[in-house]
Formats: sequence, structure tokens, C-alpha cells
Amino acid sequence: MPATTQKFSMTASPLRLRWFTENCFEIKLANGKTIVIDPMLPKKPDPNNPQMLDSFYSGYTVENLEGADYVIINHTHGDHTAQLREVYERFEPIVICHETVAMKLAEFYNIPPRKIFPYVANQCYDFGDFSLETFPGLHSGSRKDVGFAESWAENMKRHADEKETWLGVAGSMFNTNFIINTYDNISIAFNAGEFTPVLKNAWNNRRPNILLKHLVHIERDNPLETMADIIQTVGAQLTLPMTHQRGCMDLEYAYKGKFDINEYADLVNEMLSKRGLSSRMFSPQSGKWHTLNVSLVQDK
Ligand SMILES: [Fe+2]
Repeated sequence: MPATTQKFSMTASPLRLRWFTENCFEIKLANGKTIVIDPMLPKKPDPNNPQMLDSFYSGYTVENLEGADYVIINHTHGDHTAQLREVYERFEPIVICHETVAMKLAEFYNIPPRKIFPYVANQCYDFGDFSLETFPGLHSGSRKDVGFAESWAENMKRHADEKETWLGVAGSMFNTNFIINTYDNISIAFNAGEFTPVLKNAWNNRRPNILLKHLVHIERDNPLETMADIIQTVGAQLTLPMTHQRGCMDLEYAYKGKFDINEYADLVNEMLSKRGLSSRMFSPQSGKWHTLNVSLVQDK
């Protein structure tokens, strides 16, 4: 029998990703193709734009993006779309958005119609580089007591532009969560908005590897258990928070204003560990690339 050289470990690295601010992620697949989620990378805080919170500024701009073959839009509020035009000018990506908002989004950001890919919820779209499963979402903190006319007037006051006002009102209605399935079998779930019963059931069956979860509203009376329950339900090995750079009303309430995302993740992880789960929550540093590795390592 010929001699072999024994290896003691092997690592596959199916993707790299980084989070910038709010819901904005850049994901680089193994074949070099890049997906940008919710492009919001403002150059600096804008005192003339009350919509542009200081906390939205991360120090990274569209110039820092390495690529964008695809842009996926969760909903059409400015903190999910503000730099869409700049990203388009740099990379000419396919822009993937809900079919109801596709026309207005293309018009407002001047995206060529042929570069828009409209989706609906509860479908799976194969882009070759990845497939996208879509799930109906619900905007968090929706003000159910505000009538349509009042909502339009509020948006008009903020935007002073009819097209942007339309996108603002539509953004509260059309919110879509999704799972990106890479061609080498990694699944990334994205949830900006409520973790609804629909998502709970769908993702409990689907069980993606990674969960990108926004943190603006988490149950204030029980924030640890709520997050641990969501992670256990979804079953993702890794959960990455988003929107936490602007704080989180419920967490600040629960922790009396001393909310720290890393301490929170530690506490959630302790709870997951006690439940016998290997799933973990991790808050990556803004703008820094992180590599997802799948490793098999011989025990020492
Ligand atoms: Fe929104």
C-alpha cells in the first residue's frame, strides 16, 4: 500500500461577508460574485436631512464596496435604499425588489428597467450564482392607528417629493424577508421587521445556517429569552445582529440605557449553551470582512 500524507484538518470557505450599518451587508460568494443587501452607506451625517440619523454614518461609503452584482431590497424606506443610485452607477447590479415597488423604485433611483428583477413573496428564484427564497414580512413598530391620508401627509412632510413619499408609504406595506442559498449550500436568512408567525413556521422548517436579524424592536420585558427563542426556532449556527448601531429601544429599556451589543450577545449565548445548542450570536465589527469557514479538525 502506497504511503499517504495524513492531513489533520480541512476547511472550506464558502463565503465572506461584512456588515456596515443598519441593514447593509456585502456578501462575496466563492465564485467572486457579490450581493449587497439594502444599500445605505451615507457619506456623512446630514444636518439638513432629519431622516439621516447620525448613527447611520459608519465611516464606510459606496466607494468602499468591492462589488455589487446583485442588490436585494427588503423594503423601500431610505435606510434600506438611500445609496441605490450610487451603487448602480459604480457596479450596474441587478436590483431585486418586490414587484409592487419595482416601477417607482426604478423611477426614483433612475435604474434601467431591464436591470430590475421584481419578486413576489413565497417564491424561489434561481440566479445561477445563488437562489433567493422570499417570505412575506411585516414592518416593525407599524402604527396601526394612522390612516392612509395621515401617513401620506407625514411622509410628504419628511420627503417633499411625491415619488419618495410613495416609496415611504409603500415601504410600510411591502416588506419581504428572504433566504439566500449559495450554490455551495450555505443558506443566509435575512429578517428586517417583525419575526412573524409565518416566518417562525417557515424558518423552523427551513433551518438556514446564518440568520441576519434586526434589533430595533425586541420584546423589552424579556429580551434575552426572546432572542434565544428566535435563534432556537430558526436553528441557525450563527446569528448576526443589524440596526443595533442606532440603539434598540427595547434593549435600552431592559438594560436601563446601558445596552451593549457584545454583552447582550454573550448573555444570549450563555442561554443557548444552557439549552444544549451550538448556535451562537455574534456582532461583527462594522466594515470588516469576515470569512465563513466550515472545518473538520482532528481532536488533539
Ligand atoms: Fe422601514
